[in-house]
Amino acid sequence: MLSEKMAQALNIQVNKEMYSAYLYMAMSASCTSLGLKGFANWFMVQYQEEMAHAMKFYDYIHSQGNQVKLMVIDQPQIDFDSPLAMFEKTLAHEKFVTGLIHGLVDLAGDENDSSTYAFLQWFVKEQVEEKETAGNLLNRVQSAGESEEALMNLDTELAGRVFHPPA
Ligand code: FEO
Repeated sequence: MLSEKMAQALNIQVNKEMYSAYLYMAMSASCTSLGLKGFANWFMVQYQEEMAHAMKFYDYIHSQGNQVKLMVIDQPQIDFDSPLAMFEKTLAHEKFVTGLIHGLVDLAGDENDSSTYAFLQWFVKEQVEEKETAGNLLNRVQSAGESEEALMNLDTELAGRVFHPPA
């Protein structure tokens, strides 16, 4: 069994991952309305990844004999002017989530909860990749600047992203 405190913290993380999914779904919708189908695809795959993260926490809580308690999911920002605004927000959000994961690792350490500590290591690594990917794409959108052609080339590339369920 997880301690009450650890279970509550992991429950909150289920909610944060679902909020992340919601945020990226909102960005996908914004991209669709801007006519950027490739960007919309990239953010919809990001949505799928976040739902998979939520389910990893969900399954882990139950595997420890505790019960998931779902909470209200906050409404995300729903309108974005440009891919630049979206990737700025994406990078900032992934930095925020990284801080949350590190907070959970600290709590698992404080509680001598080695199972949860080990479970969280996947997320520590995943957040390194998430921040790097968001940072790279932000740089590329910044480099595209006002060039419609560069943005369309990137849109075509991002149309190729495919969701791979995490192991
Ligand atoms: Fe679930 Fe993008 O971190």
